[in-house]
Amino acid sequence: RIYEDSDAASLYVANEIAQLIRQRQKQGKKAVIGLATGSTPTKMYEYLVRFHREEDLSFKNVVTFNLDEYYPMQPDSIHSYVRFMNEHLFDHIDIPKKNIHIPDGTLEKEDVRDFCKAYEARIREVGGLDIQILGIGRTGHIGFNEPGSSLGSTTRMVRLDRVTRLDAASDFFGLENVPTKAITMGVGTILSARRVIMMAWGEGKSSIIKQAVEGKIRESVPATFLQQHPNCQVIADRAAASSL
Ligand code: GLP
Repeated sequence: RIYEDSDAASLYVANEIAQLIRQRQKQGKKAVIGLATGSTPTKMYEYLVRFHREEDLSFKNVVTFNLDEYYPMQPDSIHSYVRFMNEHLFDHIDIPKKNIHIPDGTLEKEDVRDFCKAYEARIREVGGLDIQILGIGRTGHIGFNEPGSSLGSTTRMVRLDRVTRLDAASDFFGLENVPTKAITMGVGTILSARRVIMMAWGEGKSSIIKQAVEGKIRESVPATFLQQHPNCQVIADRAAASSL
């Protein structure tokens, strides 16, 4: 779907999520939602907060799993995705703390593997992801699944691509401050969601969107794996869709 601007596009995605939450609530079930960070989803979160405040949308029955976190990372750091999610969404809605899952950047190295296994198990235990929200990195990464990530990959520690670190450099006040690693859900974890929505805004994303949507499915552009998903939408503004 191509929208005139990212605002209209974000409203569409927020509405889809709200509808899922209400539907699940009626069924007396939890809505299990995979969430993303970065600049792309911020407007969509603004809309969800607005729906909570103005339209009584409750998040009491919502369980969330975030895609990724830098490693190492303290949750109170200005760069942490925990802090990002609190500031953009969780601090403003009624989601129970116990329903929130974000990869833990404070783990000891030797504990990461068990944590990742437990993250996957927890997703399965709550019935799997109803929907996964994604942005896309210039390397074609989804979550932090950089080029070379395999179709069946699961939650794990990864090394970040230089392009991804360069893109993050200004946020971190210099490339040398950007972590070299992250913990991310895998391509397989993302593809296991019953529905996937990938969002992209701005001309800077147009070339990677063209590759992701029209390119050959390959490990060197992990977002191309989404072509194999039976229920995946790409939501773009005019600029991001301009090379399609
Ligand atoms: C980071 C995140 C990704 C996100 C990407 C794009 O690398 N880990 O999940 O999709 O950035 O960022 P932005 O939305 O700021 O363009």
